[in-house]
Amino acid sequence: MSSSSSSAAAAPPVEKPSAVFSIGINGLTSVVLSQPGGYSAEVLLYGGQVISWKNKRGDELLFISKKAVFEPYNPIRGGIPICFPTFINNGGTEQHGFARLRYWEVDTSIDLTTSSDKASIDLILRPTNDDLLKCPNQFEFRLRVILEPNGDLKMNSHISNLNSDGKPFTFLFSYHTYFYVSEIREVGVEGLEKVDYLDYLQNKKRCTEQAEAITFDSEVDRVYLNTPDIISITDRELKRTFTIRKSSSLPDIVVWNPWEEKAREMTDLDTIEYREMVCVEAAAVGSEITLKAGDEWTGTHHLSVCPWTLGKGC
Ligand code: BG6
Repeated sequence: MSSSSSSAAAAPPVEKPSAVFSIGINGLTSVVLSQPGGYSAEVLLYGGQVISWKNKRGDELLFISKKAVFEPYNPIRGGIPICFPTFINNGGTEQHGFARLRYWEVDTSIDLTTSSDKASIDLILRPTNDDLLKCPNQFEFRLRVILEPNGDLKMNSHISNLNSDGKPFTFLFSYHTYFYVSEIREVGVEGLEKVDYLDYLQNKKRCTEQAEAITFDSEVDRVYLNTPDIISITDRELKRTFTIRKSSSLPDIVVWNPWEEKAREMTDLDTIEYREMVCVEAAAVGSEITLKAGDEWTGTHHLSVCPWTLGKGC
């Protein structure tokens, strides 16, 4: 892996897949993944967070708030925060766990130069002593982020329970993906018809989705339970469709948009920015994952985007 001080936007076209270190805002280190077709993605070591994913024209596909705070130990509003380890009934700042607030290590045991067709990075997170006081579980979290030759973005998470006292480790997990959309009112989330959901705006009331496509004209905060593994997000204005393919170990999908009033209360989101984002999160949050000591859990999601000019099913 080589080193650079450029950002993903300024990166010159590459001749082969590459993973290059970059120093960005506030000196935070990231790794820029590039593919010869012009595709790129950027992964911040702080949070193990994907903060950029671009198509071959250089268009940003993920939303990052203009007011996002790139400073430890704040969560960064946008991209793909990893929400782990989270627990049922956690609220407030604890709601999304500490993984997004820690520096992840690069796994140097994996030689990227041996990978001929992938731009990828392997990161590791282990709890600090302070983390163990709050969450008394020894674990190792291995995250692989891969930018495919066709521009698709894959993330694989492997979490091992390393508790030496034989205790199980119980947690919730989500890839909190912020998709960039041109105008939220032109967006539809498809694949959730007839699926039950908990409406977080109605005290987790259980409802059944009736719409073929979920559309937005006010705040939405829902957990869809035991969903199909393929979900799509259509943007009628930009005429493109994102597809999420998730592993069945991530049974749920969270759909969230804060709308105007909530956005106004958020210090790291510009009021009108709610219009440019939708969170559709591959997750395991409806019920907890319980990992026996010595066992490993794997959760993957695979994101792709298809312009309508290429026709359905590209
Ligand atoms: C969503 C939750 O996943 O994330 C919402 O369902 C929450 O309830 C939102 O408001 C943002 O969370 P945070 O912790 O990043 O502000």
